[in-house]
Amino acid sequence: MPFAPSSFLFQMCLLARRPRVSAMKFLALLILHLGVLISASKLRTQSNVGIVVVGDPSFQRRFDAQIRSLRCYANRHGYEMHLLTASEYAECKRFKDFFFRKHCTVSKFLETQAPSFTAAVFDGDVVVAAPMRGLDKWINHGADIQLYNRCLFHEIMAGNYMVRNTPFARDFLMRWAKYYDQRPSGFSSADNGAIQLVVMETIQVEGYNTCYSMYRNLTDKVTNLNSYWDYVHCTKEAIGPARAWTLPKGRLTMWPRLEFYVADGVFLNRWASSEIGPIMHHGVKDPQDVVSFYYKDLDQCEINETSVLRSAKELGETALHLAQSYPEYFPAGRGCKQCAETCMESFSCEPLQDSEEPRPRQVVDFRASSFTIVDSAESRRHSWGWSRWSTV
Ligand SMILES: *[C@@H]1O[C@H](CO)[C@@H](O)[C@H](O)[C@H]1NC(C)=O
Ligand SMILES: *[C@@H]1O[C@H](CO)[C@@H](O)[C@H](O)[C@H]1NC(C)=O
Repeated sequence: MPFAPSSFLFQMCLLARRPRVSAMKFLALLILHLGVLISASKLRTQSNVGIVVVGDPSFQRRFDAQIRSLRCYANRHGYEMHLLTASEYAECKRFKDFFFRKHCTVSKFLETQAPSFTAAVFDGDVVVAAPMRGLDKWINHGADIQLYNRCLFHEIMAGNYMVRNTPFARDFLMRWAKYYDQRPSGFSSADNGAIQLVVMETIQVEGYNTCYSMYRNLTDKVTNLNSYWDYVHCTKEAIGPARAWTLPKGRLTMWPRLEFYVADGVFLNRWASSEIGPIMHHGVKDPQDVVSFYYKDLDQCEINETSVLRSAKELGETALHLAQSYPEYFPAGRGCKQCAETCMESFSCEPLQDSEEPRPRQVVDFRASSFTIVDSAESRRHSWGWSRWSTV
C-alpha cells in the first residue's frame, strides 16, 4: 500500500484543528495511521530480500524438505522465495557444469530485480535451525558480496553467499562463472576451486600469478588432493584473514568461521540458538534428518526445539571447544581480534576492517604478481594468515 507520510501529517493537522473531532477519535485515527505507516515501511524493506535456491528439478525433489524449511523461513520473515533451475537464461547455457552455470544464473536473475534487492543464495542441502532470527545482521552489514570461510576446511565456501543487486556483485558472479573456461585438467573442485581466484582478482592482492599457475597446473585426480590443497593454501595466504574489503567499485566481505548465518551444523552438534550463532545448517543431505530431527511438524513450520535449540551459553561453549580443538582453522588465544578465546564463545569474531593489519598488499598489476612459498609445511597448518610467504 503506498503511503505518503506528508499527506498523513496534513490529514492529522486538519483533524486536530476541527473542534468536533473528539480526542479519542483523534487518537484512534493516529494509531491506525501509525500502524499503516509501520507495516508499509516493513513491507518496503522486507520485499527487498530474497531467499534464492538454485537446483535442477531432480535436485529440488531430493532436497524438498530442506527447501521447505527455507520457504517456512522466508514466509516468517517476509522474504521472497525464489527457486531457480539454472536453465532460465540462454546466456548461461554454455557453462556445461551446473555449479558455474549457477552463478551465471544468479547474476542474470539479479538483473531482473530491483536495484535494492538482496539475495541470500543457498545450496539445497541447507536446513533452517533457528527460524526465529532474521538475517538483519548480514543484510545491514551491506557489502555487495558476503562470503564465509568453511568451518573445518581451508576453502572459502562456494555454495552459500549473500549478494546485493549491484553491478559489482553481478560482475563478480559472472567472472566466477567464466572460470569454467580456465578449469585445469585435474581436480579443482568446480566453483569452489575457482572462487579462490575470483576473490583474489576482485581484491587485487599480490600473488595472483603464483596461485593461478598452481591452479592451471592441477592434474591430479580427486583421489590425490595434495596439489589442490597446496593451491588453496596459496590463495588463502594471499587473501589473509577474513576481512571487510572496501574496493574502488564495491565492497566484499569474508566472514570468519562460524560467523555467517549458515555453517556446517554437524560441527555444532546440529544445535542452534534463538540468540546467537548460525541460523542455517549446511551439509544436511538426508531429508529424514529434516523431518525427524530438525522439525517436529514441517507442514506447520514447527522446529523441534528439544533436539535443535540450546542456550546461547551452551552453543557458545560448543563453538569455543570446537575452535580450541582445531587450531589450524581458528587462531588460538586472546592475542588477536579473531582469536578463539577473544570472540568465539559469543560468536563475535568480526571481519578485520579494510585497513587493519595483518593485511596483504594490493598491487595494480596483480595478474603478473608472484610470491614464493617459504615453508609450505608450516603454511599448510593455517588458513587465516599470509605471513608464511615472501615476495619475489
Ligand atoms: C606444474 O607441475 C609440474 C609437475 O608436477 C611441475 O614440475 C611444475 O613446476 C609445475 N608448475 C607450476 C607453475 O607450479
Ligand atoms: C523432538 O526431538 C526429541 C529429541 O530429539 C524427540 O525425542 C522427539 O520425539 C521429537 N519430537 C517430535 C514431535 O518429533
